[in-house]
Amino acid sequence: MIVLLLLSVVIILVYVYFNGKYNENYWKKRGVPYYEDNKVLGPYWDFLTGDRALFQIFYDIYKKYPNAPAVGIGSLVTPSLYVTDPTNVHAVMQTDFASFSDRGFEKNESDILADNILFMHGRRWKLMRQLMTPLFTAAKLKNMYYIVDKSALDFVDYLKSNPDTWERNTFDTLTTFCCAAIGAAVFGIGEQSTYDSPFLKITRAAFYPSWWSNIRFSISNLSSTVFKLLNLKYFSDYEKFFIGAIKQLLRQREQEKTKRHDFADICIQIQKNGAMKDGETGYEVIPTDELLAAQAFFFYVAGVEPTATAIFAVLIQLGKHPDILKRVQNEIIDVYAKYNKQLTYDAISEMQYLDKVFNESLRIFPPIGFLTRRCVRDTVLPVGNIKVKKGTRMYTAIYEIHHDPRYYEYPEVFDPERNLSDQKSEFYMPFGNGGRICIGARFAKLQAKSALAHVLRNFNIETVEHKGGLRFGKDQVQLRMKNVDIKFTPRY
Ligand code: HEM
Repeated sequence: MIVLLLLSVVIILVYVYFNGKYNENYWKKRGVPYYEDNKVLGPYWDFLTGDRALFQIFYDIYKKYPNAPAVGIGSLVTPSLYVTDPTNVHAVMQTDFASFSDRGFEKNESDILADNILFMHGRRWKLMRQLMTPLFTAAKLKNMYYIVDKSALDFVDYLKSNPDTWERNTFDTLTTFCCAAIGAAVFGIGEQSTYDSPFLKITRAAFYPSWWSNIRFSISNLSSTVFKLLNLKYFSDYEKFFIGAIKQLLRQREQEKTKRHDFADICIQIQKNGAMKDGETGYEVIPTDELLAAQAFFFYVAGVEPTATAIFAVLIQLGKHPDILKRVQNEIIDVYAKYNKQLTYDAISEMQYLDKVFNESLRIFPPIGFLTRRCVRDTVLPVGNIKVKKGTRMYTAIYEIHHDPRYYEYPEVFDPERNLSDQKSEFYMPFGNGGRICIGARFAKLQAKSALAHVLRNFNIETVEHKGGLRFGKDQVQLRMKNVDIKFTPRY
């Protein structure tokens, strides 16, 4: 027994040594520095054994190799590259999109809800993206704005009648609002904004970073073979409820005469048109209830927590800068008066200063800290002339670039006058970039700004950092600001 145990330990050690050496040589041969702290599991080792978010571990690597255009990292046997130079990041996301169009998330066929735009790749992703894009055009957003506005008004009522939310659990309160708002605007669920929804529980649970979800996420990034062999699934626990709810919604909508122009309407239209076909390649997908439920599911998961994080980011900054808060509130009050005491779509669009504050808050706290891609054809990154082979996993910096003094003077200073809407997209990427940029960005911004305008018209705020100060949760891709709350004081 002891001999067997010793033999296993020796085999593991030999494997670790040779695997680490192989990875290191692989990148050194290409003129790329290699992250040596853990040559086999790279940043995943620190992520799994420590208590910090993965983006913070990447940030440490970024600071350790300040002049490298990219850094090779350990990832078992799959070559993995952490891209740090903004021109290279831009190549991965935009200019050489054809070589990096795959996000690189693994999924198993039987994980029905994982068959969504975020996880899809190749022709299937392209087709689904084309079909979903019309949901978020400016005209559609204008049409559905009355629902967004109503959700924000309901949220103010909710805050007013629940004083226990005025100084604690701010992030939870914001996710509750975002869940109700996205449910109403995208799916038309509920005439009233609902704050006790089973969708909320699912949304929170789906990406909540538990030890098991962190291990599963790490395996999916370290080895697609192991992920497939173990037949790991992300969302099987929510299948029954979610698919059932969407089926019911679609059948109900088929009977309705009036169109609401929301996600459910688009789904019904897609199903009426029959098989979805890519004109160029002839590739076909059947729009089953299950496939549409997977897209709907992901809009919830993608829409709720990042939008709540964005609103939280703005509130944290405004609660720390009373002069900037005052200026935002004055703008809201002026526009509100100009639009006859209504915060319409045009009124929200007119709030230029609020827009600047929103953009700058997402520079400091981009809700998603870094992005992933997979190389789908051999190519070369421009800075450093780095050869990248098909199959390589790519990690691209976002938070790190947003906080780099080479691109932002005094990056830790909150300064809404930076005019980020004019910023080159390789330096400012809260919604990602290129062909896989966030599909819901415009909707999310509108929803967040509408909520902020209503809340700040009704409340004064202060940021309360608890003992030990603001820190981040141990999250996979997200920034989860912890140990901080907002104190709301009614203005009237
Ligand atoms: C402030 C809130 C939000 C932020 C900061 C955010 C951020 C992001 C980021 C960084 C990505 C990856 C982009 C890339 O890889 O280049 C993404 C993808 C995505 N987001 Fe958002 N998002 C937000 C809200 C939403 C909302 C409200 C929805 C839908 C209702 C949504 C739907 C999606 C989808 C479907 C994708 C995958 C796109 C694809 O792979 O083609 N997001 N989001």
